[in-house]
Amino acid sequence: MASIAVIGTGYVGLTTGACFAHIGHDVVCADIDEAKVASLQRGEITIVEKDLDWIVAEGIASGKLSFVLGAENASRNAEFHYLCVPTPQSEDGSADLSYLQGAAAEIADVMPNGSIVVNKSTVPVGSTQVVARVLGRPDVSVVSNPEFLREGTAVEDFLNPDRVVIGSGDQEAAIRVAALYSKVRAPIMVTDPVSAETIKYASNAFLASKLSFINSIATLCEAVGADVGDVVLGMGYDSRIGSEFLRPGPGWGGSCFPKDTIALARIAEDAGFDFSFLKEVLKVNEEQFDRTAQKVLDALGGDASGRRIGCWGLTFKAGTDDLRQSPAIEVLSRLASSGAEIRAYDPAVHSNIDELPHVEVVTDPYAAIDGADVLVVLTEWDEFRWLDFDKVAELMVGQSVVDGRNLLDPAVLRRRGFQYRGIGR
Ligand code: UDX
Repeated sequence: MASIAVIGTGYVGLTTGACFAHIGHDVVCADIDEAKVASLQRGEITIVEKDLDWIVAEGIASGKLSFVLGAENASRNAEFHYLCVPTPQSEDGSADLSYLQGAAAEIADVMPNGSIVVNKSTVPVGSTQVVARVLGRPDVSVVSNPEFLREGTAVEDFLNPDRVVIGSGDQEAAIRVAALYSKVRAPIMVTDPVSAETIKYASNAFLASKLSFINSIATLCEAVGADVGDVVLGMGYDSRIGSEFLRPGPGWGGSCFPKDTIALARIAEDAGFDFSFLKEVLKVNEEQFDRTAQKVLDALGGDASGRRIGCWGLTFKAGTDDLRQSPAIEVLSRLASSGAEIRAYDPAVHSNIDELPHVEVVTDPYAAIDGADVLVVLTEWDEFRWLDFDKVAELMVGQSVVDGRNLLDPAVLRRRGFQYRGIGR
């Protein structure tokens, strides 16, 4: 088994470190945040990730997983150095590599000879060269090993991936990194670093494109009177299309898709290719936020001033507490200027949020819709389906439901006298 340093303990770094320890490696995770390191050393997980708490506790108990302050303290005795630091979006849409370069600079002089540095964070094409330049260590190979982790299922996605991608110009380094995954049952493909980085961006951009496509099909369904649920079912029988990732919604968001799709369009532009298709995918997504907000305004007869909107769902998707680039925030931001009073409930959100100063966050779904003229569902938390809709009908002033996730049963709601508006149905 190998000794691995993981730099950065966000959902990618912590999952990567804990899962590598779970499959037998000796892992030291580093962060710059002293309080965070101390809480991790106590086994306290602040990230909502299924199974992460027990797999971290297992690693700490076995001595295979530990946490230190500062990257240099993790890398001093490690053979592999995983960079799992944020690569946020810059003002101009490109990825900000300052954290990546900072982490590389911190470990450059302390890594043992013959170490391998691995880019796990989503980084622009050509980043292995950027890191190699910062390291200035001819004895150290830099390898791309992009993460394909979905928030909420990151542990599952690490231990049971569809594939492991390794990008390296050094065959021996690629083999050494591939060996880290010997206990993981998945295809391992080795390619050059630029292709590996492109696989990551292209995969996310394709998935985002698939979502913008089905959201546009949902709009078409509304125009022609088709039911998008049946359209998706009929499409999905074609194995070349599949039924995964075809749920219409209020638009897509999260900490990855928006950033990565914009970054890919920018990477293309910098390389002299106008990726107009991808720009349209992004435009359609913005329009989906507009359409969903408009559905709520339509339900209020076009004038929301003085009316009350009850919202279920704030996070960017169910199963996580992450609000970053949440479609719910995009839609409610558009409604905030309409003059309506908005209350929102989300099982993973327990206080008001900065991006929505005019929205009152409540801790009970019925409080969110008490006296409301319209209910809008913006995140697909399963618990919303099992609430008491007789009680909802009694508490609401209006009878309108805008189901931004096609989560609820239109027939059940219409039988209770609600006017139901879905996405494409
Ligand atoms: C994504 C990629 O799936 C993952 O492979 C990559 O490593 C990181 O980015 P994540 O950001 O966690 O993962 O979210 P994902 O589950 O992909 O959902 C992204 C957005 O699309 C969410 O807002 C979600 O609600 C939306 N979505 C997803 C839909 O609207 N419909 C769907 O059918 C699926």
